[in-house]
Amino acid sequence: MDNLTIAIAKGRIEKDIYRRLEALNMEKWIDRDSRKLIFTDEENYITYIHVKPSDVVTYVEKGVADLGIVGKDTILENENKSEVYELYDLGFGKCKFSVAGMKGKKDKYLTSENLKVATKYPVIAKNFFKSRGQKIDIIKLNGSVELGPIVGLSDVIVDLVETGNTIKANGLEVYEDLFDISARIIANRVSYKFNYDKIQKIIDLFDSTVKASDYK
Ligand code: PRP
Repeated sequence: MDNLTIAIAKGRIEKDIYRRLEALNMEKWIDRDSRKLIFTDEENYITYIHVKPSDVVTYVEKGVADLGIVGKDTILENENKSEVYELYDLGFGKCKFSVAGMKGKKDKYLTSENLKVATKYPVIAKNFFKSRGQKIDIIKLNGSVELGPIVGLSDVIVDLVETGNTIKANGLEVYEDLFDISARIIANRVSYKFNYDKIQKIIDLFDSTVKASDYK
């Protein structure tokens, strides 16, 4: 039997993915202390590859991976570039996309034209403000975006808010929530057709960890 390949996103949701695999007794195939990027589960015929979140979408779209586990934020940010099926909401890695800025300056945000928006997610930010007909300038950053309004690089940020600690610790406040996100299972379109039963079995396994526990 050919193995199914699952691309796992490194970073924010990784810990929760392993907790689920652990609940299924499938984590034993992965050596998390190793620098290896590829692991094989010989019992369940699964190959795992560890990649950066945005690369999960690329590996799945190109068919190198049959399935991917990645945040909805990454899926939305890459929506224009890739065509994959989004199959299942894993229910963890929950957070919000929000617009935030310096505390007490929300009025300026609501009235200002050509707002300067710092973000790691230019596609999501552009789409949001476009849908409202508001003109903005995007400043693409790769992290620590909360600095933007503090140092005057931007008026606001569009970013993930999970606990709200980063926003608070930097004297910012949420002006507006855009939408909720969580971790999803995505599939290559062709593989989904040809490996439907195998893929469904994996989704059922993950689903059983939700029903059998309070991981959600
Ligand atoms: C993410 C996000 C926020 C922070 C939100 O950044 O971009 O900065 O986490 O989490 P909180 O609401 O629980 O504080 P990440 O930790 O990935 O680091 P980065 O800014 O370097 O990308």
